[in-house]
Amino acid sequence: MKRSFLQTILQIFPVETAHNIRLTLLGCAGKLPAGKWLINRTLAPHDIKLDREVFGKHFDNPIGVAAGYDTNGDHLDELAAAGFGFVEIGSVLPHPQPGTPRPRLRRDDDTASYIDNSGYPCKGLEHILQNVRQRTKHTQDLVIGCNIGKCTSTHPDDVIKEYLRVFRNMYQYVDFFVINIACNTSAKPFVPTSRDQILALIEPLFEFRRGQLDYRPILLKISPDLTWQQIDDIVSILIETPLDGIEAVAGSCSMLTTERGAISGAALTERAIEIVHYISQRTEGNYPIIGSGGMMTPDDIQRMLNAGASLVALNSGLREYGLKLLRSTAKHLTQPQPTAETQIPIDSTTETKE
Ligand SMILES: Cc1cc2nc3c(=O)[nH]c(=O)nc-3n(C[C@H](O)[C@H](O)[C@H](O)COP(=O)(O)O)c2cc1C
Repeated sequence: MKRSFLQTILQIFPVETAHNIRLTLLGCAGKLPAGKWLINRTLAPHDIKLDREVFGKHFDNPIGVAAGYDTNGDHLDELAAAGFGFVEIGSVLPHPQPGTPRPRLRRDDDTASYIDNSGYPCKGLEHILQNVRQRTKHTQDLVIGCNIGKCTSTHPDDVIKEYLRVFRNMYQYVDFFVINIACNTSAKPFVPTSRDQILALIEPLFEFRRGQLDYRPILLKISPDLTWQQIDDIVSILIETPLDGIEAVAGSCSMLTTERGAISGAALTERAIEIVHYISQRTEGNYPIIGSGGMMTPDDIQRMLNAGASLVALNSGLREYGLKLLRSTAKHLTQPQPTAETQIPIDSTTETKE
């Protein structure tokens, strides 16, 4: 896909600066008189064929923003106007944390991938709560997911308590939750992989939800570095507990051999589609999956949906191509497509993983 003029200019800047400029420009456009209306009319896809119902929620289209793009929910109005089907804010952390010193995010030009060693910078729960509480009429229809993560400084004994704290506080303001158990790029990685560790983290959330009038779906976000056995364990948790779905995948730490961090972008595409296909086969397509990882072109997104994803979350693809990726994908998805079977890569079969 060809970059827009703006995206070409932005490539001159360091990756994180380019991202901040992109969001600032979008924010400024949104503040002009009728700015959001204009963004919506000129950029947003409007096609009823893209509508879908997933975990009891209506989505105008299946393409959303992944965690780490609008971490603090500072740009919800503009992202809603731009026409995303949903925005996943976060990882929301209980306390503000600056992350690691810059530069901490770089693009690998050979592979069109992003190496993130930012250590989850976040303005913290209080700031994000203010943003979601002040949702204007523009974002009322936007589906908002809240991704919950862990502060670098949190003591391992306090992790469960802190996830619960964010969950309880955000509960009434967002539409679904994503519990991040993926590779963490901070100095103290947090990657619960055993069944017991994962259950210990999510059961208090189920317990809290049982006492609420409104139901909020809970998904687990998993790492692409898991073994097939670990993915099977997660699938069994999905089937046996009130967990609602899975988001696959986060950035990969194991694909990086010489530096710290997590790699996202084109290096992840095939692995992400393979894992989503595997989970979808294992669960017979009965549970919602958010596909994430290396969704850089409309064709990648189409393949991810064909592999069994109900929704697709974008991060690196938006850094690479901006809103053009959403527009082109919407156009692509509304054109007649070949059957799903012809689009799934041949090597991502359930049989080969056993
Ligand atoms: C700069 C950056 C920050 C990210 N921050 C988070 C985060 O806070 N929480 C999270 O769950 N994932 C985070 N991610 C992972 C993305 O949400 C996404 O799952 C991953 O990048 C794979 O998708 P992609 O290839 O489209 O980027 C981050 C990724 C990047 C590149």
